[in-house]
Amino acid sequence: MQSGHISVLLHEAVDALQPRAGGVYIDGTFGGGGHTTELLTRLDGVATVYAIDADPAAMERADRLRSTPIGAGLIPVHSNFRELARIAADLGIPPVDGILLDLGLSSYQLDQAERGFAFRFDGPLDMRFNPEAGESAADIVNHAPQEELASIIWRYGEEKQSRQVARVIVERRKQAPFTSTADLAAVIEKAVGGRRGKSIHPATRTFQALRIAVNDELSALESVLDAAVGILTPGGRLVVISFHSREDRIVKQFMALESTDCICPPDVPVCVCHHSARLRRIGKPVRPTDSEQTHNARSRSAIMRIAERVG
Ligand SMILES: C[S@@+](CC[C@H](N)C(=O)[O-])C[C@H]1O[C@@H](n2cnc3c(N)ncnc32)[C@H](O)[C@@H]1O
Repeated sequence: MQSGHISVLLHEAVDALQPRAGGVYIDGTFGGGGHTTELLTRLDGVATVYAIDADPAAMERADRLRSTPIGAGLIPVHSNFRELARIAADLGIPPVDGILLDLGLSSYQLDQAERGFAFRFDGPLDMRFNPEAGESAADIVNHAPQEELASIIWRYGEEKQSRQVARVIVERRKQAPFTSTADLAAVIEKAVGGRRGKSIHPATRTFQALRIAVNDELSALESVLDAAVGILTPGGRLVVISFHSREDRIVKQFMALESTDCICPPDVPVCVCHHSARLRRIGKPVRPTDSEQTHNARSRSAIMRIAERVG
């Protein structure tokens, strides 16, 4: 099954980038291309957009957008955004006017059973944004030590029964390795109890945790934020949409730190860090309106933070 992706905070995110004809932008999470299409449409195609995504299927969509009347300035880059500093150096990307990160996964990925992100469909236990590289969810589920599994499920999924889930996974894999999403979902459901009275499927938190671990999402985010500040032009905007409290905490703390001159501990009488602010935070965090949340359930956990490069 395949369906489209509804971009979250579409107009708000593109407004935050302050589109300028002739500007240079990086969409670090091209996905279905919704935000980039809106940006290019507003600028009548008069802009350069480096469209990064780890997923080869997203690159096919970028190629299609490139062949439309507004797409001439689009440059698809198949890579993990954690490589942003290297990508910028390799491609000779000039200082950019805006960088957008719309984190997590797209509905294209979620709705394709063979990508293994969803417990609603039976598919291989994969969950890699780039199915051509790295360990799959099956590798982790079948080989990680029980303690590590419990820790992943607790830290990234905030699953209260993380130890119990890890225990039943390890017990079961002794008999037969996990290969499919439906198999894993059924075992988790047995471990933590059925759906009755719960607002979400019992496997939701564990699946989210595994996806974050498989793609090493939090460490990729830390790397890209640091690289992003380095390649923004003064006045350029960094716009980040997060869907998970840990992601948002990283973005929030990064923007706070980078917006502060001295970061010495309070008991140090004279500054020794010589840190100077590279960013200025813009406005308050933005959340989807009630109407967007009603229209697009996936937007409910979204939070967008904006910062601007200072000279
Ligand atoms: C929420 S979707 C983006 C949707 C897009 N903004 C739109 O409007 O269609 C997130 C995309 O980011 C990609 N992605 C997530 N983490 C990534 C990473 N570390 N490096 C590169 N791409 C990543 C995923 O493959 C997915 O296609």
